[in-house]
Order: sequence, then C-alpha cells, then structure tokens
Amino acid sequence: MKALVVYSSKTGNTRKLAEALFGALQCEKDLLSVSDNPDPSGYDFVAVGFWLRGGLPDTASQDFLPKIGEKEVFLFATHGAARDSDHARNGLNKAKELASPARICGVFSCPGQVAEEVLEKAGKRDPKPVWLADAPAAKGHPDAEDIRQFIHLFNDLNLP
Ligand SMILES: Cc1cc2nc3c(=O)[nH]c(=O)nc-3n(C[C@H](O)[C@H](O)[C@H](O)COP(=O)(O)O)c2cc1C
Repeated sequence: MKALVVYSSKTGNTRKLAEALFGALQCEKDLLSVSDNPDPSGYDFVAVGFWLRGGLPDTASQDFLPKIGEKEVFLFATHGAARDSDHARNGLNKAKELASPARICGVFSCPGQVAEEVLEKAGKRDPKPVWLADAPAAKGHPDAEDIRQFIHLFNDLNLP
C-alpha cells in the first residue's frame, strides 16, 4: 500500500496530528502540506487533515478534497469547538461530501488550541461564533492523550 498524508495547518495543531499519523504508518508513504499542491493519484490511501474555519474545512482543504477521487480516505480535523459538538460533526460531514466519491474509512475530530488573537477577534463579533464558548477547553490540544487515541483509532481500521 502507498499512503499519502496531506494536512492544512495555520498554527500547527493539525500538523501535529498529521506527523503522528505519518509516523505510525508502516508502508510506503509521503507527508505533504496542502500548500504543496499534492497529487493524490498513484496512492492507494489518502489521509487528509484540516482545520475548521467558519464551520467548514479550511479553504485550501476544500479545494483539495474533491481532487482525491475514488479511493480509501481517512479524514481528521482540529477545531475550537468541542469534540462531540454538532459544529464539529457538521464540519466533518462537509469534508465527506467534498471528498465524494472517496470511500471514507474513518474520521477523527480533535479540539485544537485557538490562537489568542483569533479568540479576541471572534469575541468582538455579534453574534459570537457558536464554537467560541468551547474554545477555552481546547487550550493545550491536541495533547499526548489525543494523539494516543488518534493513532489507536487509526490502527483499529486494519488497513492492508
Ligand atoms: C480564521 C479562523 C477561523 C476559525 N473558525 C473556526 C470555526 O468555525 N470553528 C471552530 O471550531 N474553530 C475555528 N477556528 C479554530 C481553529 O479551527 C483551531 O484552532 C484549529 O485547531 C487550528 O488548526 P491549525 O493549528 O492546524 O491551524 C478558527 C480559527 C481561525 C484562525
């Protein structure tokens, strides 16, 4: 199996997960930022990590996801919203739609620390974004336990 891990990351949270996943993969593999304009053809498996912006995958990931086509795909996301929030779930669902006709073999959603200036700006908006109330709890994430759970879930997929 040949695997590609693609990530989009502005402040490093999603990159942290991408690097952990890349380290756990036991096959021929590449790790690329979405800004490198990766070509997913030639890979059997693609993992895509993105961050939520306005409740959706960040714009670079929105552009990349439809390019993957019909293959095994694993999606992971970081966000200021709580892990089990509708907001995070909707963002993941949007990514699934964008990746169609890919076969989604798993998803992982993880709180990610929100930069101070972003919190400040979002706090001044009226109405405040729904994820803002959850953001203080995202501080320090992804942490070692998030990464442990992430890799555990991924290994349980039993990819070839
Ligand atoms: C411009 C901007 C918009 C954001 N919008 C959302 C959002 O809609 N929902 C959310 O849960 N988090 C939002 N966040 C928080 C980021 O998704 C979160 O901090 C994420 O972990 C950042 O990932 P990164 O460190 O890989 O860039 C936003 C952050 C920024 C900078």
